[in-house]
Amino acid sequence: EAQTPEARYILAIDQGTTSSRAMIFDHSGDVVSAGQREHRQILPRAGWVEHDPMEIWGNVREVIGLALAKADLTRHDICAVGITNQRETAIVWDKNTGKPVYNAIVWQDTRTQSIIDRLAEDGGLDRFIEATGLPLSTYFSATKIAWILENVEGARERAENGDLLFGTPDTWVLWNLTGGRRGGVHATDVTNASRTLLLDLHTLQWRDDILEAFDIPRTMLPEVRSSAEIYGHASSSSLLRETPIAGILGDQQAATFGQAAFSAGEAKNTYGTGNFLIVNTGTEPVRSTHGLLTTIAYKLGDAETHYALEGSIAVTGSLVQWLRDNLGIIGSAPEVESLALSVDDNGGAYFVPAFSGLFAPHWRPDARGALVGLTRFVNKGHIARAALESIAYQTREVLDAATADTEATLTELKVDGGATENSTLLQFQADILGIPVVRPNIGETTALGAAYAAGLATGFWSDLDELRSKWQEGRRWEPTMAPEERDRLNRNWNKAVKRTLDWVD
Ligand code: G3P
Repeated sequence: EAQTPEARYILAIDQGTTSSRAMIFDHSGDVVSAGQREHRQILPRAGWVEHDPMEIWGNVREVIGLALAKADLTRHDICAVGITNQRETAIVWDKNTGKPVYNAIVWQDTRTQSIIDRLAEDGGLDRFIEATGLPLSTYFSATKIAWILENVEGARERAENGDLLFGTPDTWVLWNLTGGRRGGVHATDVTNASRTLLLDLHTLQWRDDILEAFDIPRTMLPEVRSSAEIYGHASSSSLLRETPIAGILGDQQAATFGQAAFSAGEAKNTYGTGNFLIVNTGTEPVRSTHGLLTTIAYKLGDAETHYALEGSIAVTGSLVQWLRDNLGIIGSAPEVESLALSVDDNGGAYFVPAFSGLFAPHWRPDARGALVGLTRFVNKGHIARAALESIAYQTREVLDAATADTEATLTELKVDGGATENSTLLQFQADILGIPVVRPNIGETTALGAAYAAGLATGFWSDLDELRSKWQEGRRWEPTMAPEERDRLNRNWNKAVKRTLDWVD
């Protein structure tokens, strides 16, 4: 059914690591309303991180209702829906019942290290890097699916029978929103597919040889589609019934798109539970020699695929949550800024939050967190400061890697995400990089990117130039630190990182 002419909005669903949100955007790209619900972080053992997929789907339904109600809108006002999501997280469910066979295994989860070790025996960690752009790591979906098939009773047999489906959270939301076991669409987009360790980046098809190595039946996998096209329509049981779902991008790619970084050389850095630097490299995949991932930036319908290099950092914002929940030295995440400002500097302390090992550019699963440089002088203010600074140092590491890989020098860094509300952090970031840091006036780049994709697919927005013209600078932080001081601090950070390696016995 065609949408009515008064469909003046796009609704974006952002299924993230800690919460699910729905945001409604108008034609100028402004947020007119939003709904948000957190879900439980299920931590059964050290290194294990799970979510309940049914809880997530319930929350998604709820936030759609909240966002519509807040702005007093109905489905008739919504032209199309875009989906963005935490990437890599693996959900396996029964297509006949719609019930997951196990909790979602989250991207941060490291339980599958033994599967990685086993596979690396034959060909090393870079065994599939040529095809997929990724090293073997617990981070990506493939070992998580393999773990479920190996460890959940009866799962392998049901999978071999064709009863089980796999999806990252975009696929789970799309399948449910389009009717679930009554005809739900089982698809994903190229950006999410590129994070599974199963996709050939060049052909955009699942690789049979890799599926075989992980022992994953191909029938479980969703169809790979572009990032902007109509995948299906919301089912009759949804508040959005008959509305087209027309855009899907993994959250980091969505933020890149929302920052209008459409062309080669453009980049963004998102500060979330982790940090993710993405540099668009244009229409050819570039192989990193400095520890970055090769990934897909976006593909609009039948147009050419755009690729990117990515520096993924596992723990940044979640370190602040850890200070709150595990140490109790702050009552809420924003309080970290005032605690950090209670001291003049880090007092010599460096905090390397290698809680899930170290991701880019090190890729060292054997690393564990360390707080070093301690003296009797160090207090909780210094620890808060060291935690904030660790976000900036880790970003410097991945930016250096991107500069080395692309031989291009970024003259400024576009940033977004929750922690970019923290001006102390962004000033330190500019200082430690030696280039300005720029935040756009629309901070909600992740949801906006998904909305842009859905809006392009349905003619709500006309082209990339129109979207580019919406990007406006909100605030800028200029570097003020002396280069010698910057070098000294970066040197100390590098020493601290060395202390975290080889920790797991
Ligand atoms: O790769 C993981 C990333 O997609 C998670 O992002 O914002 O949900 O923590 P976020």
